[in-house]
Amino acid sequence: MYQIPTNSKPGDPDFEENKRHYRQMLEEYRGIMRKVMSGGPDHAIEKHRSRDKLLARERIDLLTDPNTPFLELSPLAAFGQYDDGFPSAGMVTGVGVIHGHETVIVANDATVKGGTYIKETIRKHIRAQEVALQNNLPCVYLVDSGGVFLPQQAEVFPDRDDFGRIFYNQARLSAQGCPQIAVVMGSCTAGGAYVPAMSDETIIVKNQGTIFIGGPPLVKAATGEEVTPEELGGAEVHTSRSGVADHLAENDEHALSICRSIFETLQPGERQALDIKTPKEPAYSPAELYGVVSSDPKRQTDPYEIIARLVDDSLFHEFKQRYATTLVTGFARIMGFPFGIIANNGVLFAESSLKGTHFIELCNFRKVPILFLQNITGFMVGKEYENAGLARDGAKLVHAVANATVPKITIITGGSYGAGNYAMAGRAYDPHFLFMWPNSRISVMGGQQAANVLAQVKIDQLAASGKKVNEKEIEAMKAEILSKYQEESSAYYSSSRLWDDGIIEPTQTREVVAMAVSISLNKKFEEPRSGVYRM
Ligand code: COA
Repeated sequence: MYQIPTNSKPGDPDFEENKRHYRQMLEEYRGIMRKVMSGGPDHAIEKHRSRDKLLARERIDLLTDPNTPFLELSPLAAFGQYDDGFPSAGMVTGVGVIHGHETVIVANDATVKGGTYIKETIRKHIRAQEVALQNNLPCVYLVDSGGVFLPQQAEVFPDRDDFGRIFYNQARLSAQGCPQIAVVMGSCTAGGAYVPAMSDETIIVKNQGTIFIGGPPLVKAATGEEVTPEELGGAEVHTSRSGVADHLAENDEHALSICRSIFETLQPGERQALDIKTPKEPAYSPAELYGVVSSDPKRQTDPYEIIARLVDDSLFHEFKQRYATTLVTGFARIMGFPFGIIANNGVLFAESSLKGTHFIELCNFRKVPILFLQNITGFMVGKEYENAGLARDGAKLVHAVANATVPKITIITGGSYGAGNYAMAGRAYDPHFLFMWPNSRISVMGGQQAANVLAQVKIDQLAASGKKVNEKEIEAMKAEILSKYQEESSAYYSSSRLWDDGIIEPTQTREVVAMAVSISLNKKFEEPRSGVYRM
């Protein structure tokens, strides 16, 4: 191991310029986060409190062990959409610790349109269940929801990964041994009634919680019967007559304490063994990351400068330091956890793909989780490279990433473009978690390249049909594409659509990846399927 040296120090003009630029981005990010974290409109929060109900995040605080972290997922879901009428898509999800058990928590936020589900709410709920499945975790559902947001029924009801998938997942998770616990703290209507009904154990709050397949207005319309919500499916009914719920709680606090009590009855699962050491701070402050991330996205940020500020004591055991230098690979520790790190240092060539493939095999055999630090414009293009079989070698890396048998955690620290996204464990490659930094961008290619490609296609079309090229039209077309890519490639656009698990501040990266890898140890790693091939 060697301590990574730095060429970037506070006081250097570049460092200070980068920092100034990043500060502005952070201010914007923090402002947006504060807004979405506050939930629905004031009048809805007042109404909620007047019913003696706690807010979604307060419920999670009480449910989890004191002084333990909560890894929140996708707080920016639906941001910038629906006139910003669905902060966090009306739901808080994440992994928290309950009596020592790392647990997926899904909490409806009833202050956001009655906690109803739009497309992003469903994606968020299902993503949380995927995390439970991949990591073998129990789930708690803090239910307070009017079910489907009815005007959007076509987007949320019928397809495979729509509303119905939530209950399918509950059945599968329960069968896999991941306890499913529901706490009904408000409305739980129609399909939503299946959340508690499909749970292993269910708690319901008196005079607050209701569970019914069809609410009173529907019953009246269908059969003419007049019935109050409490008579139809309140806490008294479900804990003493129907048996749909198992525990009656007096209020939110009592319900959460019963839920905690249930966790005391769970046995610990078998964890993956990992050599974890005492954490050490990096030799250079993580706050210096703001000075090393290039303020100009076209200028490559030196990955060694990033790694030096993320890993314990800035110590790195580099693999193939002298070979294929546009991909940096090596072993290090973060908060005491061992990691194989794969970081971009320019475009991917055939040999960088082979180096990455070999390194992933090492990680599989040594049972060391992999951290991908993604900042990639793509694979090298051109006749020389294609003729030498770039696609074949790139495919080896994509194969190795897809079939890695250890947990993969991806942080997008800069650009994430084209096939580089795949080769560096983008969302489609099932990393256990994927987070973005506020400066990062993701799209099939850079806006300028896309504009040039489409302009060239247009020029070729016109030439083929013998028509004249109108330069002004071509320039207007390019400008339009550029501005579309500018908007659609931002980290906020991505997070709003759940292409990632959230945007984090670079200084939070160490804690986040440590939590992520700790969560992944709840499931034993698979055995590698072949020997190590030298590439
Ligand atoms: N679809 C779309 N919007 C809904 C909705 C639904 N299923 N349920 C509630 N809303 C909206 C309301 O229109 C209201 O919007 P507004 O703030 O813009 O006026 C907001 O959510 C809050 O609803 P409100 O009734 O004022 O709040 P509440 O806390 O008193 O009651 C519910 C919340 C969910 C109990 C109640 O609205 C309800 O019963 N909704 C219908 C539930 C239902 O039948 N769902 C079937 C889905 S399959």
